[in-house]
Amino acid sequence: MIEQRSVQVCEDCGTRIPETDSRGDCPACGGLLEIVHESSSDPSSLKELFAERRAQIGGVEQSGVWRYRELVLPTAADVDVVSHPEGNTPLMQRQRLSEWTGVDDLWIKHEGHNPTGSFKDRGMTVAITQARRTGASAVACASTGNTSASLAAYAAHAGIPALVFVPAGRVALGKIAQTIAYGARTLVVRGNFDVCLSLAVEARNALGVQLLNSVNPFRLEGQKTIVFEVVEQLDWAPPDWIALPAGNLGNTAAFGKALREARSLGLISRMPRMAAIQAAGAAPFARSFAGGFAERLHVEPETIATAIRIGAPASWNRAVRSIRETNGVVASVTDDEILEAKAVIDASGIGCEPASAASVAGVAKLRRAGTIREGESVVAVLTGHLLKDPGAVVSYHQDTEPRPAHANRPIEIDATLAEVERVLSRQSQ
Ligand code: F0G
Repeated sequence: MIEQRSVQVCEDCGTRIPETDSRGDCPACGGLLEIVHESSSDPSSLKELFAERRAQIGGVEQSGVWRYRELVLPTAADVDVVSHPEGNTPLMQRQRLSEWTGVDDLWIKHEGHNPTGSFKDRGMTVAITQARRTGASAVACASTGNTSASLAAYAAHAGIPALVFVPAGRVALGKIAQTIAYGARTLVVRGNFDVCLSLAVEARNALGVQLLNSVNPFRLEGQKTIVFEVVEQLDWAPPDWIALPAGNLGNTAAFGKALREARSLGLISRMPRMAAIQAAGAAPFARSFAGGFAERLHVEPETIATAIRIGAPASWNRAVRSIRETNGVVASVTDDEILEAKAVIDASGIGCEPASAASVAGVAKLRRAGTIREGESVVAVLTGHLLKDPGAVVSYHQDTEPRPAHANRPIEIDATLAEVERVLSRQSQ
């Protein structure tokens, strides 16, 4: 087996600290840390290894994160790993979505098929594994709901107490239900996500808990596997574009790192272009992109897509790098565009939460603008499951006036066949 070593390197000043140092930011300048795996691997034997593990029954390597362990956390032994297991999510095509977006070769990567219903599980299995390896007494995060659900589930599995900070009144029902049910100590903060994150950082410094937001570099190592799995599912032939919703920019950072590493290892022979999509009411990154990333912007966020209701994204610099290195773009879509895309995704039988639909809404918009050209292939990532936000579904289909284009209203009736016939004959007219 190849000898492997990993270190944490500060993205701002280059300071190197051991992989097992759990402080969470650079001791010299406070910058964000990045994991660097120092090893040499041959791409064809890696591809074979990944495929073999996929067929394995039992063991940690059946996980869609840990079967890429050489590129994620090579030093973790099987006994260290805390896995539910996660990943191995489907890559699908639907005629209806191709027609709606105008992209014939459109693929949907559905991360809502993870154990807690969002892509966060891929990062969380690695972050909790590392937290346990380094003897964490407690773990914490600020969250718009999915990270907290995932943290709670993985911390419960590892037997580590979990503390979460969520914005009052702005977390979708499914997510808060999961967080409470999995047993995390849940603090509902009067303030938005950005306020929650500052408070979580203060709590880390004061209380010595490990912070597992996507500023934690181990989270990004797990989230990279979305990209590895996509290109593997396409037989290592990358698409022209990969589109994803963007909030705190952890995933945008992880995707860029995955593509850079896959390219330099020779797993792929060219870079797809990334399209990071924000909600128009929470789009500091899209606005900055339009100005050539000259400024780091903050906004007061507002959007129906509560998962990405974030005004001061933390992984800014590394996300800029991802967009630049992939010749990517950043766009924004309105809440109406998000809701329409979601209704079409839902009605195709796939379904997703509102923030996830931003990727597909963004693809349609970029295609209309000609940025995505005729004949180009696109993978759009759906980040969370439909059942995360049942409130958004009920409000769109049942409560919104005037009735939206794709509304499918339930009809209450008396329990008689005559009533059934009356309703059906009215609908067929
Ligand atoms: N989609 C969903 C469903 C999310 O929950 C998030 C982030 C994103 C997209 C954006 O990813 O932050 O890496 O740019 N949710 C975080 C949370 C903030 O707390 O669950 P990002």
